[in-house]
Amino acid sequence: MCNGKMKKIVLFACILGLALCYGGSVFAGHHGKEKPVKKGILLVAFGSSEESAQVSFKNIEKKTKAAFPEIPVKWAYTSHIIRHKLARQGIHLDSAEVALAKMADEGFTHVVVQSLHTIGGAEYHDLIRVVAGFKTMGAFESIILGNPLLATQEDMERAVSALLSTIPKERKKGEAVVFMGHGTHHPANAFYAALMLQVQLKDPNVFIGTVEGYPALEDIEALLKAKKIKTTWLIPFMSVAGDHAKNDMAGDEEDSWKSILTQAGFKCKPVLKGTAEYDAFVDIWVDHIRGPLGHF
Ligand code: CO
Repeated sequence: MCNGKMKKIVLFACILGLALCYGGSVFAGHHGKEKPVKKGILLVAFGSSEESAQVSFKNIEKKTKAAFPEIPVKWAYTSHIIRHKLARQGIHLDSAEVALAKMADEGFTHVVVQSLHTIGGAEYHDLIRVVAGFKTMGAFESIILGNPLLATQEDMERAVSALLSTIPKERKKGEAVVFMGHGTHHPANAFYAALMLQVQLKDPNVFIGTVEGYPALEDIEALLKAKKIKTTWLIPFMSVAGDHAKNDMAGDEEDSWKSILTQAGFKCKPVLKGTAEYDAFVDIWVDHIRGPLGHF
């Protein structure tokens, strides 16, 4: 049986142990071995095989490294189709699962997984499950998933300002601006119409349509007609100006937005730049990394 002095020593040892654990210098990994703290950032995008998309990814990486210079930055693409396409060209990108397994193997202890998606749709929810899996495994001392571009009301307000700031200065009064979002069957699709309402409170001639969700192009076309718009700019509301921007938005095929709107009598001025080419948008993603990093 312990005497009073023994109890005090045991208590002191426990407190010391706790202090070491929470002190941030070491992480008691499996089998009681101490691991030095190693923080990392994993940027996760849908991905793109288009060369034109690389400028967006490079900009996000540059801004992330500049904001957190001491923390290694890794990449993953969620689209296996894109990864396989790139692999055939000799370019190897990991899935989030593989990238995180490698990071665990490389001794990372604290990881922020940053979604570079625009909304918290299907791919973001897949990522939630991947992160939860690594959490359950205890692969890291801490793993946190950062929000996509649009999550909180603050994000919405910042995105409204970012959208307005990226409209070309050559746009004249009375000319509309139609942003092309991706759109999804996922309930998070509602973010596009919500953002359009908020941007229109600042500029009534700015519209947000989607390729695969609501509002569709026909909804936007009806609004343009009702406002008697003659000219409209077309700008991607996607992180990269990839396949959707080049073909579905600005392509010469008859089913592109440019062709359909031109056919309907509108003069179209497409801009081929993704949101991640602009610091105003990238700053929102980078701040979504900053929050979780503050918890480590
Ligand atoms: Co798509």
